[in-house]
Amino acid sequence: MNYNIAVLAGDGIGPEITNAAISVLNKIGKKYGHNFSFKQLLAGGIAIDKTGNPLPDETIEECKKSDSVLLGAVGGAKWDTLPGHLRPEKGLLKIRAELGLYANIRPAKLFQSLKGACPLRSDIAEKGIDIVVVRELIGGIYFGERGIKEINGETAAYDTEQYSVSEIKRIAKIAFELAKKRKKQVISIDKANVLESSRLWRKVVHELAKEYPEITVTDMLVDNAAMQLVKNPAQFDIVLTSNLFGDILSDEAAMITGSIGMLASSSLGDTTRGLYEPIHGSAPDIAGQDLANPIATILSCAMMLRDSFSLINEAEHIEKAISEVLDKNYRTADIMSEGKTKVSGSKMTELILSEI
Ligand code: IPM
Ligand code: MG
Repeated sequence: MNYNIAVLAGDGIGPEITNAAISVLNKIGKKYGHNFSFKQLLAGGIAIDKTGNPLPDETIEECKKSDSVLLGAVGGAKWDTLPGHLRPEKGLLKIRAELGLYANIRPAKLFQSLKGACPLRSDIAEKGIDIVVVRELIGGIYFGERGIKEINGETAAYDTEQYSVSEIKRIAKIAFELAKKRKKQVISIDKANVLESSRLWRKVVHELAKEYPEITVTDMLVDNAAMQLVKNPAQFDIVLTSNLFGDILSDEAAMITGSIGMLASSSLGDTTRGLYEPIHGSAPDIAGQDLANPIATILSCAMMLRDSFSLINEAEHIEKAISEVLDKNYRTADIMSEGKTKVSGSKMTELILSEI
């Protein structure tokens, strides 16, 4: 079988980590008799430099023709002063919207071998962390009406949070379906004590919950959720939330596992074509120094194999290879701890390849 994968390497460490992931996919392909074809496309800061546009039309068209998309990371200080519509981040928001990827799935799991890297007290870490953040990705305040205006003789800026019933329903459905395969528990995060959009969110979630009697749904206000995540993360399984709250809480969830360099994500819509990317950013400070941990991007490829191509054994093979390397105590700088062997990003990739 041939699979066409669009690669948006992006900025900073993006090219190193996507190249690492490509080498892993090629090895898996050889082993299992699949052919993965890769098409490198411009997105983010590099696209601004080369074309003046953070998401050129060609990139959109090629992504739409592909079977799936692999993304590294976008952004960097170099482009921070550009106006909003010309920033690298706009390219990322736009490709998500163009591909209709409304569901962002961000698993935050504390790897057994990395328990020492968890920043929480050991009695809290002991109970384990295994959370999946289901974040709405193409609605809410990141896409709402915005602008700058004059009020009382001074400049004011505004952004709008808006959600329709159908937007809430389709993301909630993803969370409920996922919950069926896990602990049958959904915690829905909102700010219904203040926001009208959150009150609608809550209403729609409860309405849909009637169709899933086997699932327990709990509402939690976002400020409380931020606190509970560090106090007792073991209480969370599926976290269902809006674009803005999900952006913030998924970074928090990732950080408490102590290894943001390890966490993968998928963005899905109504077709099997998804966009897969590490949760971490472009880390311009370590770009080009062979320091970046490629594991999050490689794990994102495992998610792609499973969720877009239904290649379950192949996905498990990659995950197992990574566990083996970690069990042998090899660590990149970001997850290094005492007594372990520190390796470069490329060495880590080599070690993973040798386990496949
Ligand atoms: C993320 C990032 C993006 C987002 C930025 C880069 C636009 O923070 O994927 O979480 O806010 O979605
Ligand atoms: Mg973010």
